[in-house]
Amino acid sequence: MKKLLSAFWRSPVKTRVLPSRRIHLGIDYGTSTSKIVFRDYGAPGGERAVLILSRGSIRIPSTVGLREGMLQFGGTEDSHSGTILYESLKMRAAMEATGDPKYFYGTTTPLPDGFSACDLAVLTVWYLISEGHRAVLLDLSGNADGLRLGMTMGVPMAFFDDVVLQPLFLSIARQAWQLYREEDLLEVSLSLEKARHILDRYPRARLPEISDDEVRDWLRSEGEAAMWWPFQSPAVGPGPYAKIDIGAGTTHASLYRIHGDNLTPKTGIAFFGASTISVGMDGIDNAISICIGEKGDCRLLRGREQEILRRNSAARDAIEPVREEMYQTYRRAWGQTLRKIGDYQAERQAWGAHKIFMIGGGSLVPIIADSLRVHPAGGNLTIQLMELEPPPDLKRADNRAITAAQLPFASVAYGLANIGLSIPEALTPNQVDPMPLNQARRERLNWDDIYAK
Ligand SMILES: Nc1ncnc2c1ncn2[C@@H]1O[C@H](COP(=O)(O)OP(=O)(O)OP(=O)(O)O)[C@@H](O)[C@H]1O
Ligand SMILES: [Mg+2]
Repeated sequence: MKKLLSAFWRSPVKTRVLPSRRIHLGIDYGTSTSKIVFRDYGAPGGERAVLILSRGSIRIPSTVGLREGMLQFGGTEDSHSGTILYESLKMRAAMEATGDPKYFYGTTTPLPDGFSACDLAVLTVWYLISEGHRAVLLDLSGNADGLRLGMTMGVPMAFFDDVVLQPLFLSIARQAWQLYREEDLLEVSLSLEKARHILDRYPRARLPEISDDEVRDWLRSEGEAAMWWPFQSPAVGPGPYAKIDIGAGTTHASLYRIHGDNLTPKTGIAFFGASTISVGMDGIDNAISICIGEKGDCRLLRGREQEILRRNSAARDAIEPVREEMYQTYRRAWGQTLRKIGDYQAERQAWGAHKIFMIGGGSLVPIIADSLRVHPAGGNLTIQLMELEPPPDLKRADNRAITAAQLPFASVAYGLANIGLSIPEALTPNQVDPMPLNQARRERLNWDDIYAK
């Protein structure tokens, strides 16, 4: 089968007379787990999106293991004590490139000789593309005639506008794609020696130049991608909204207005404020582990936070500074929004009653998620939570429906699976029309203000 696939993939599409079947992978490369949705633009009966399963799970561990000279991807089969685990490589690569320790909370387990965190991230993304490809082929019952596969990877919004991190993650996505194109699919394990050899054969420095316009084809912000479904959903009307994504390594808050009226289709999205910090559930887990003396592998706490916090008041106290940092993203985005709307009363009133979407794994931990649903204007006002039905065109690869608990994990990948052009241009705060009153006093935010960390 592998041979067949590889033969198909290497054959130049342009010499084929078959109609092309365009399928796009949306890769949400997460700090702890990755999620992949593919959109089949040529599916009989109409476009559809599929949330892929890897070893039966919608969440594919981003951890890389090392055992007896073999790198392991997508989660280790066993938890032998001899396996070295490299966690949160996405954030470790960010720390490595910027030299800023704020990006990485995990244990700095020494990397294999001659490898950087960025190298391991490239290999991981190559594995994710390969998993996407395998899932597509399974879905097409092996019939890959005319298949044209593309991909877009997500990055935290703050990375997208960072002079070091955007080029870094762009090169991670592109190098991984090159390995996939040139080297076939990556299986669950690869020897260190072979990995080094392959990485050296296709060095980052030799990736062809691309224009600024093409960046969005490869890389889009997770924040923007997550808005795709609320924008599409008939259950969500025009109006002001907040969205908070509580991931393992980052927390992102954006405040935006969906434009349109109740009679016409929604016409676009405008950001009023957006802020990301490199603190997420790993930071919470770190605080819990120090408090309860369970130091070390934060994987042990993932998914157990609610249960521990519910019964341990000392742990609740210990996470408070981290939780407060997370809340700062919302407060900062709100400050930017206020500057934007100035004294325009109608808009102020509307924002006073905005609603919130919460996504990311942290949204499943009520002790944390509920505590962030407080209006940043003060007055202890609880913000109404928007609960979305899963999109009707999105199914799991085993054809089962997406559950409400799975949607917070899947929504970024679902948005990324749309090829760039089909997303309505999300206006940056600079492009948002000023409010009609007191224009002279209103401060116009620039891109740096909005995306500053
Ligand atoms: N049932 C659960 N299973 C796994 N993780 C859970 C569960 N419930 C809550 N969590 C939390 O969700 C976190 C993972 O969330 P998510 O997958 O959104 O992060 P990520 O995408 O890997 O990180 P980031 O977006 O910051 O790169 C875990 O670290 C854990 O703290
Ligand atoms: Mg995430």
